[in-house]
Amino acid sequence: MERISDVLIDEERIAKRVEELGRQIEQDYAGKAPVVVAILKGSIIFYGDLVRKIDLPIKFDTMAVSSYGSGTSSSGNVKIKKDLTNDICGEDVPLIEVIIDSGNTMKALTSLLAHRGAKSIKVCAFLDKPSRRTADFEADYVGYKIPNEFVVGYGLDYDEKYRNLPYIAILELTD
Ligand code: IMP
Ligand code: MG
Repeated sequence: MERISDVLIDEERIAKRVEELGRQIEQDYAGKAPVVVAILKGSIIFYGDLVRKIDLPIKFDTMAVSSYGSGTSSSGNVKIKKDLTNDICGEDVPLIEVIIDSGNTMKALTSLLAHRGAKSIKVCAFLDKPSRRTADFEADYVGYKIPNEFVVGYGLDYDEKYRNLPYIAILELTD
C-alpha cells in the first residue's frame, strides 16, 4: 500500500513558479512562434498552466515516450508511444516535461528531435531530481529542484493514480 505523507509544493508555490517560467520562456522566444510540446501524460497539467502564461503565437503538439529501462541499456534509447502530429523540421521546440529523474528520456528525446532537424530544442521541467541523474543531461528551465523522494500530483502518478492532486506530495510506501 501507499499513502500521501507530506505536501512538498503547494498550489500557491506551483502557481508562482509557473508564472515565472512562462515569463522567462516568453522573453527567450520573443519574436518567434515556437511549437510547444507536451510530454504525455505527466506534463498535461503543467503544460495547461504554463502555456497560458506565454503570450506568444505558439503552436501545440504532444508526444508520449518511454525510455528503455535502466538495467542493461541505461544508454537511454527512447520508445515513441505517440509521435508528434506535425513535422518539427526548422521549428523552435520547447519540450515541456513535469520531472527529470535519471535524465535518460530527455537526453534521448532531445537528440532524436535534433536529428529530425528542429531549429532549436530546449527542455522545461517543473521538477528536477539532480541526485538521481545518470545521463549527461540538464534542463534549460527548472521549476524546483527536489530531493530524492517519490512524488505524486500535478500530473505525476503512482500506478496511474494521484495525477489530479492540485499539489505535489511525497508518496510513502507502506505494507
Ligand atoms: P527519466 O528522467 O528518464 O528517469 O524519466 C523521468 C520519468 O520518470 C518521468 O517522466 C516520470 O514519468 C517518472 N518519474 C520519475 N520520478 C518520479 C516521481 O517521483 N514520481 C512520479 N514519476 C516519476
Ligand atoms: Mg509514471
